[in-house]
Amino acid sequence: MPKISLKIREQFPILKKKMHGKPLVYLDNGATTQKPQRVINAEKEFYETTNANIHRGVYELSEKATAQYESAHEKVASFIGAESFKEIVFTKNTTEAINLVASSLPNEIFRDKKKILVTIMEHHSNLLPWQRLARERGLVLEFVELAQDGNLDLVDLKNKLNNQVAILAVTHVSNVLGTVNPIDRIVKMAHKVNALVLVDSAQSIARLPINVKKNKVDFLVFSGHKMYGPLGIGVLYGRRELLEKMEPFMLGGDMVTTVTRKSATWNNLPWKFEAGTPNIAGGVALGMAVDFIKSVGIPSIWQHEQELVEYVISKLLEIEGLVIVGLENVGEHLSVLSRGRTQRSSPTTKPLIRAGVISFTVDGIHSHDLVTLLDAEGIAVRAGHHCVQPLLTTLGIKECTRISFSVTTTLEELDRFITVLGESVKILKR
Ligand SMILES: Cc1ncc(COP(=O)(O)O)c(C=O)c1O
Repeated sequence: MPKISLKIREQFPILKKKMHGKPLVYLDNGATTQKPQRVINAEKEFYETTNANIHRGVYELSEKATAQYESAHEKVASFIGAESFKEIVFTKNTTEAINLVASSLPNEIFRDKKKILVTIMEHHSNLLPWQRLARERGLVLEFVELAQDGNLDLVDLKNKLNNQVAILAVTHVSNVLGTVNPIDRIVKMAHKVNALVLVDSAQSIARLPINVKKNKVDFLVFSGHKMYGPLGIGVLYGRRELLEKMEPFMLGGDMVTTVTRKSATWNNLPWKFEAGTPNIAGGVALGMAVDFIKSVGIPSIWQHEQELVEYVISKLLEIEGLVIVGLENVGEHLSVLSRGRTQRSSPTTKPLIRAGVISFTVDGIHSHDLVTLLDAEGIAVRAGHHCVQPLLTTLGIKECTRISFSVTTTLEELDRFITVLGESVKILKR
């Protein structure tokens, strides 16, 4: 039985809701997680008791708001093992954080370099900014492909990583396949050839331990709303030495120290990258989301999800015509899984590691039809291309259905989902 207690689930008011008269079964946490009461309260309380602009007022309310906003930076820094809050820039979301890096990298990192490397499993957010940068700088954008087992092909990565690569942008967890990329190993490989690494942690920040200093990650990006925090706030971690060398992405208030008619000097980190009035209430509530995750514990969240993943995979494979995306090709796990079991087939078979993000297709059925029938029963899952069109094209599909878990997901919810899915497939195949 998953170890997460129901007391945690009870902290999420929206989960008491009914949809179409049925209890809400929310399995779209990859898109955004629901929020515990304490995060909702933190944002509300900020507006009720502390609202003022930061860094500008010398009056008490502004100083209080500033202290809370800065303390949220400190909390995030400590959560991901950063050296200092100066390395933590609050952005709107993951997308803005990646755009910031791609737009602001110093020229020196491109000296004698001709390539940008991404993986085929990147979300469009971690692809399009690199496509543009490659176009603008006349660089080649290369893709690391998938291995036979649906994981990232580390041999392909090794072959493509050479001293021509300026930066490698890689997701920690795929938002469609649920694969977990070995970030520590990847960073070591990249640094050997003097390439920087940006890790997209949007899908991993709330389920896997991350220590940027220990793993020597250059940039780490994630969104508050995918880690039980509010919408409209995200994070860019950057190694201080790199951030110091980067030009600000946006110019305006709060990111400057002195301004003359013709020029300006930039503020200290991290404010140099936070132009204009930021989402102060969102930042404060993000700090509360960090407190929430820490109170549950990342190891407990991961273990909880692993038990759900094993359970649901075995149940999904009992549905005729259903294929789990990224697990159907070849390789040992895949043949094991296609027989409906998740155990290892032999001592040499590597264990299957998948985060709580699973996508599937059902022969002859469009994901939108499936999701519509599930919705009628109060079950929220996602259909479509999930912002990874190059990955789906590579896998030979155009769309799929995705379920994604969080700390609130229960076995009972998954049972209900599987029952309704089975019935929906029967209806649509008639
Ligand atoms: C892996 C990954 N990267 C980036 C993003 C973009 O996140 P946001 O829309 O919060 O900027 C997502 C969103 O689903 C994602 O799953």
